[in-house]
Amino acid sequence: MSETRTAAELDQEAAVRRALEDYYRDGKPPWDSGVTPPELVALMEGPDALTPGHVLELGCGTGTNAVYLARHGWRVAAIDLIDRAVRQAREKADAAGVDVTVLCGDATRLDEVGVPGPYDLFFDLSCYCGIPPHRRDDYAAGLTKRAAPGARLLMFGYGPEAFGDPISGVTADELSTRFAGWQLVDVTPGTNPVPTFWFTLRRTAAACDGGMGCSSHG
Ligand SMILES: C[S@@+](CC[C@H](N)C(=O)[O-])C[C@H]1O[C@@H](n2cnc3c(N)ncnc32)[C@H](O)[C@@H]1O
Repeated sequence: MSETRTAAELDQEAAVRRALEDYYRDGKPPWDSGVTPPELVALMEGPDALTPGHVLELGCGTGTNAVYLARHGWRVAAIDLIDRAVRQAREKADAAGVDVTVLCGDATRLDEVGVPGPYDLFFDLSCYCGIPPHRRDDYAAGLTKRAAPGARLLMFGYGPEAFGDPISGVTADELSTRFAGWQLVDVTPGTNPVPTFWFTLRRTAAACDGGMGCSSHG
């Protein structure tokens, strides 16, 4: 994980951040439906519902799903890069009367934000697919370090074809390669008119590797 970045990489990160800030400054961003996706509802309320534990949401936006998870008994931490989104997520959690730790920071720099662990579940609803490629190894490393044994990552992402630029999108092959010590256990196409996918990964490494997943929650 090197922090030596080229000017082009820094430009890419700044451009992504500016675009996101513009979305939130201009009002309600197009993705902010306020509706929890059925794929997450199934994981929480379906026949094989998970036992509540610790969850970290990456790119939580205005907090709809962080609040939903807290209402379903999970201890929730949620992170977003954009402070306007974070403020709205905190307000939403307060209004709902649930306890959610909403952090403002970069999901690819979790050490800098002081995000504790371990987590039993990571949830990412179209955050990773917009992260510039040179930051994605650090995203994966941050989750791996904080994964409880057998932890699960549920991720929704747009395929590269859905974007008009060369740096965005996510594929099953990419996740399989990048997430060492994890197994891609399910890929379900989304219902959007452009290619989208629900990915489920499980942390497979059994032995303690010294990461936060080996110790009790901080
Ligand atoms: C497409 S939006 C989805 C927001 C939310 N998950 C939802 O569905 O309403 C992607 C979110 O990820 C956040 N994001 C993008 N890159 C991020 C990063 N590196 N670290 C943390 N959040 C990030 C954005 O600010 C934005 O809120």
